[in-house]
Amino acid sequence: MNMKTAFVGKGGSGKTTLSSLFVRHLATTGSPVVAVDADINQHLGPALGLSDTEARRLPAMGDHLGLIKDYLRGSNPRIASAETMIKTTPPGEGSRLLRVREDNPVYEACARPVELDGDTVRLMATGSFTEADLGVACYHSKTGAVELCLNHLVDGRDEYVVVDMTAGSDSFASGMFTRFDITFLVAEPTRKGTSVYRQYKEYARDFGIDLKVVGNKVQGQDDIDFLKDEVGDDLLLTFGHSDWVRAMEKGRPPRFERLEDENRRALRTLQETVDASYARRDWERYTEQMVHFHLKNAQSWGNERTGADLAAQVDPAFVLREAETATA
Ligand SMILES: Nc1ncnc2c1ncn2[C@@H]1O[C@H](COP(=O)(O)OP(=O)(O)OP(=O)(O)O)[C@@H](O)[C@H]1O
Ligand SMILES: [Mg+2]
Repeated sequence: MNMKTAFVGKGGSGKTTLSSLFVRHLATTGSPVVAVDADINQHLGPALGLSDTEARRLPAMGDHLGLIKDYLRGSNPRIASAETMIKTTPPGEGSRLLRVREDNPVYEACARPVELDGDTVRLMATGSFTEADLGVACYHSKTGAVELCLNHLVDGRDEYVVVDMTAGSDSFASGMFTRFDITFLVAEPTRKGTSVYRQYKEYARDFGIDLKVVGNKVQGQDDIDFLKDEVGDDLLLTFGHSDWVRAMEKGRPPRFERLEDENRRALRTLQETVDASYARRDWERYTEQMVHFHLKNAQSWGNERTGADLAAQVDPAFVLREAETATA
């Protein structure tokens, strides 16, 4: 199966923790994994066991936006220059696509291998966010680099892309929230936790988003009942407090196989849910949605910002889809 998975939720809910546990779980299955840290608080590296020094040395995708754009636009005649390529510019004929397993200049610049119990995964990180990134400065947004990569990614069989991300207004405006086969909304059993769910659900409604709630830090039946009352059938499963996670936070990560049985079971269910979403994947809809958001962004700020008519970047005949054989 080949899947793009996002973990979103309120600050502190456990997005990074559950993303990292899921990545660790996938690594034990031997499937290729690209983990992407697009969260405001850049913690995925340490959660995957990197030391502070190693985490600091991770390249920031935001610093390589020029390279990413130039590589992806390839020889696409509709995209005259990297300067006119915005985060929503869709691929078309001549564009270069990204594959999970290949080596390419984007990974070379932006991805680093992380060794886990089981296998090595690729880690990419947006880099720290500044005030400007959190505002309406769409042009320079850090997550734009991630969005461009997702829009040019043709993930093949048995490959996983896991994104730890913030459910901010930026991802709704740019359409980034529509770039996933499945979205796990991490919620603690609190009213604040579930209000983020309701907001997300509202945005997601018109776009056929597969949204599941993953309860976290759940302590008993009352917590589970609360989540069920608040989110109904969208509640997929819950994680309890984990001593394994606590030990990792203390810088003493036990081997992954020592993770509590119930939490391991929950990770397997996450994978089954991700795998099952493959049947619902629709490349045409995926491409249409990126065009929809590109036209919206072109009109609201992109055209003015670049001085070009960005609607002309859309290649009407192009549909992003899986390649049977990987070619460069
Ligand atoms: N199931 C769990 N068991 C024990 N501790 C947990 C669990 N889930 C999360 N935590 C702890 O809660 C804190 C917040 O978790 P985490 O950093 O994953 O949340 P986040 O949603 O990514 O937060 P931020 O918005 O700051 O990025 C961390 O200290 C983490 O270790
Ligand atoms: Mg986080």
